[in-house]
Amino acid sequence: MPATNASVWKTPAPRKMEFGPRDAAKVFTHWRLSMGPDDIAWLLLDRSSESTNTLSESVLAELDMALGDIEGMGAKGLVIRSTKKGGFIAGADIHDFKGVTEAREVEKRMRRAHEIVDRLAALRIPTVALIHGYCLGGGLELALACKYRMALGDAKLGFPEIMLGLHPGLGGTFRLTALIDPVEAMTMMLMGKTVHGKKAKALGLVDAVIEERHVENAVRAAVAGKMKKDGGNWKSSVFGLRPARQLAARQMRGEAEKRAPKRYYPAPYRLIDLWEEHGGDSKAMQEAEIASFSELLVSETAQNLIRVFFLREKLKGSAKGESGIRHVHVIGAGTMGGDIAAWCAARGLRVTLADLDRNAIARAIGRAAAFYDQKLHSSIERRDALDRLIPDFEGAGAAKADLVIEAVVEKLDVKRKVFDGIEPKMRKDAILATNTSSIPLEALREGLTFPDRLVGLHFFNPVAKMELVEVVAHDQASKATLDRAHAFCGAIDRLPAAVKSAPGFLVNRALTPYLTEAFVMLDEGTPKETIDRAAEEFGMPMGPIELADRIGLDIGLEVVRMLKDRLDDPIADIPAWLEKKVDRGETGRKAGKGLYGYDGKRKPKKGSGAPGPGPEMAERLLLPMLNTCVRCLREGIVEDEDTLDGAMIFATGFAPFRGGPMHYARRRGASDILETLRRLEQQHGPRFAPDKGWDAMSGET
Ligand code: NAI
Repeated sequence: MPATNASVWKTPAPRKMEFGPRDAAKVFTHWRLSMGPDDIAWLLLDRSSESTNTLSESVLAELDMALGDIEGMGAKGLVIRSTKKGGFIAGADIHDFKGVTEAREVEKRMRRAHEIVDRLAALRIPTVALIHGYCLGGGLELALACKYRMALGDAKLGFPEIMLGLHPGLGGTFRLTALIDPVEAMTMMLMGKTVHGKKAKALGLVDAVIEERHVENAVRAAVAGKMKKDGGNWKSSVFGLRPARQLAARQMRGEAEKRAPKRYYPAPYRLIDLWEEHGGDSKAMQEAEIASFSELLVSETAQNLIRVFFLREKLKGSAKGESGIRHVHVIGAGTMGGDIAAWCAARGLRVTLADLDRNAIARAIGRAAAFYDQKLHSSIERRDALDRLIPDFEGAGAAKADLVIEAVVEKLDVKRKVFDGIEPKMRKDAILATNTSSIPLEALREGLTFPDRLVGLHFFNPVAKMELVEVVAHDQASKATLDRAHAFCGAIDRLPAAVKSAPGFLVNRALTPYLTEAFVMLDEGTPKETIDRAAEEFGMPMGPIELADRIGLDIGLEVVRMLKDRLDDPIADIPAWLEKKVDRGETGRKAGKGLYGYDGKRKPKKGSGAPGPGPEMAERLLLPMLNTCVRCLREGIVEDEDTLDGAMIFATGFAPFRGGPMHYARRRGASDILETLRRLEQQHGPRFAPDKGWDAMSGET
């Protein structure tokens, strides 16, 4: 057979294949096809020039060619597997989705892709998808077109399309709902969560979970028709009946509404409609899937969420390299220090945790244990993570650590004192980081012997949820320190955003006018629930009142005071009642009382009778935030609009379907925002005065 690629079989398999292909019979650019023992054909995917396998149009086109060859090879069975270390196939190649505007064009491309996957499904020989690592989206759809799916130990299967404002588009909707309990199938697709091998087996999504050394027997058994397959799902026949689907669909819509409003996130609702209308009729569902997927893909929501995907990639890209950090010493075991320590230990680092208060350390370890119980899959992982997290009341870890992170109270003098004590103990190649929310690093580096090794690593609360870390530079930080700090973020699976040291950096500075405007509205008599609703209806994950409580009113107050002291930003006055509240210890969620009261599950007790928000409320809250973003860009606090958008989304949850504050401003039109700010300035005062940066954006001089 002619080869399309001269290089024969160079990449090693991810693990030793004890049973598998012989010499390649045909080498494509991305695939390699060969006949193995027992006349079983092996089709291996090794996407050229990529570290991860994704399904692109060219990968699918070659699959089509390979299927043609397989049909003529006289094979008794076919195994598809990946030779990449990370996994089987991580999904569709998102580059193919970017910037598309024509639904009809997408539909044409999707039909062609469906024909290829259908061709695989129609092969008359037993087909096996041998899955390790990630098997997501289009990868899972390919696997679903095989007759058998076998998961190796670390397999993770799922449909994350919903996060991109889409639903599965390559046969996933009808193949998954036909294979397993349709309600479980819909939940998987609606939630976008991945399942591990064992759970996949319990669901009937895979036929076996095996070890590498059992591949031979398992493949032989499958090809010989001796592998036990669960005999159909009785629930599929129940949900073949429309009234049963209607009932379940109603519940699903209710659940979806709680998580994502239809007008901003149409995909879940489209998926539910699709199943309710056509469930049980694969052909009709396939047609509807193609049409619905194509329309969704060109929608503003999906394109903005695809933008967010690439923003994440960009931030990740700046976290490459080797940090050399294996041991982290955290000082301050409060809300932030405790959670940073727990997170680092979960990501495989040795962590020593110090505090003046033994109880604070004990509480932090307790929180970490609860977090590991929830998030880590095996008891061994949980035990290992806890072993790595070492209480260190004496602070002995500081002398051995590669990185010391200070997370004590937000007071310059306290932090300086901590630095004085810690710097002489640190190794000469270790980095000193501060988690300060707002204190300029130039003030903190005063008095240090090695100011070049100081950097800001500003994590967000809650650490496990908010992916961003602002990596704060200052005038004497060395490039090596900054590079290592970025790489450290990558190593612990967080996204670094480079910011300059200026009061509040980017995120807190931009959030401040959003929060303080909410306090002004409270003073005007607007109920807190109404204020929060205004922001939530714009698409924020929570309103400013709830957020202020979440941050901690004491921390928020310090930040606002400091920004008012050090900046010319027109920030509203701090209300006296807020200071009194903090003095009384009503500091928010952590205290069980703040602007809201809190129930036993630490949820805010919100009244239900508050009126809906007025038309300008969201503008009053959001535009000052956008105004500050423009100011930060103009002042060079952050380098570019993409970094700014990524930072605001991954640190604050800024409505992802809007693509970030700057993207939103550009889509809406800078002149429109400028005009609205001017109007608000006239109505409410100089805190709405538009920044000069808008002029350039709106094309004015
Ligand atoms: P916290 O009040 O919960 O914890 C501070 C801890 O530091 C306490 O356990 C205290 O005992 C300990 N501590 C105080 N002085 C100490 C010293 N000299 N040596 C050792 N331990 C000492 O405060 P939180 O909220 O964790 O904030 C810590 C830092 O993180 C602050 O700089 C804050 O601005 C920053 N930050 C806070 C965020 C939040 O949402 N709470 C978000 C991002 C940063």
